Amino acid sequence: MNRHVIDHRGPEFAKLGKSVLEGVKKVFQTTGSVFIYPASGTGAWEAAIVNTLSPGDRVLLFETGHFSQLWCQLAKKFGIDVEYVPGSWRVGPDPADVEARLHADSRHTFKAVMVVHNETSTGVTSRVPEIRQAINRARHPALLLVDTISSLGSMDYRHDEWEVDVTVAGSQKGLMLPPGLSFNAVSEKALSVNKNAKLPRSYWDWQEMLHANQAGFFPFTPATNLLFGLREALLMLEEEGLSNVFRRHNRHAEAARAAVREWGLEIVCEDPREYSSSLTAVLVPQGHEADQLRRIILENFDMSLGAGLSKLTNKVFRIGHLGSFNDLMLLGTLGGIEMGLRLAGVPHHSGGVTAAINSLTPQIKKPSLNP
Ligand SMILES: Cc1ncc(COP(=O)(O)O)c(C=O)c1O
Repeated sequence: MNRHVIDHRGPEFAKLGKSVLEGVKKVFQTTGSVFIYPASGTGAWEAAIVNTLSPGDRVLLFETGHFSQLWCQLAKKFGIDVEYVPGSWRVGPDPADVEARLHADSRHTFKAVMVVHNETSTGVTSRVPEIRQAINRARHPALLLVDTISSLGSMDYRHDEWEVDVTVAGSQKGLMLPPGLSFNAVSEKALSVNKNAKLPRSYWDWQEMLHANQAGFFPFTPATNLLFGLREALLMLEEEGLSNVFRRHNRHAEAARAAVREWGLEIVCEDPREYSSSLTAVLVPQGHEADQLRRIILENFDMSLGAGLSKLTNKVFRIGHLGSFNDLMLLGTLGGIEMGLRLAGVPHHSGGVTAAINSLTPQIKKPSLNP
């Protein structure tokens, strides 16, 4: 990324633009259009809403955690009538509940179902394919809008196969880039709904993007250096192979959970079908402060763990195992946590790091000390 900026109206840029606009489709597992914005993930959240909805439209949004809450607030600011379905922050949306609510909506007043795929505040992954099946079983025409900000590029996600209409993503997690790019992958149906969607939009307008993107350009000044980075990130993912990338994160997530269990601590996610492969959120025992533990780990080992957000403030810490991440990074992370638990006086069993090592290398037979 540390290169001279090139003319964003010139032929060299057109090649870069075409290569990233085409290449990024593979990560979303789509053959449709993907729009790239110079914005954080919140921008792409807004783009998904203003491009598909009209003032007063009803949507169904499931409470999964801090980020579903923020997306809900954003939609409300645009005059969207959000039915925010309460959740415990420990499980994803129940597909049967999605089906029942849509089935009851015989007049098809819901225009969209909105779901956070990977709740970054809890480490719970929504079962998007089952939610799509529920929508189809209810024969409901609502669009499916999905936030993959902390899953895309680390966890298997299939925009086309799961019939998602708008997938929202960001650069700073699985795509291994600094913050500053965000994405909307869109279905044909979403593009067609876009033509009649009445919310005001200018900067986020898909139609203007579609037009400029055809030649590899953008309707405004693009974040050229981040696009250089994106081109490289896409090459890295392709070199490793997406299925290997997903396997790597599954493996690290399993090892992280093995450590947490060995410590005797509780994982926030209650349903093993919904375990996140990009992060693990861990509850600190009652009477102990997660933020003090995080502070001690930061001061002693220069390692920053994710904080508990909103109602989980001071109750959890979050282990990120997404993006460019390997076995030794995981073991270093878990080692820092185990030492921190000791220093902070948080009750736990030792041996979490060993449990993770056993999880990472189960095939190695224990060598005998007495040959
Ligand atoms: C799941 C999820 N959605 C939305 C956002 C908001 O994205 P940003 O902070 O890049 O605007 C985040 C940020 O971490 C997130 O994790």
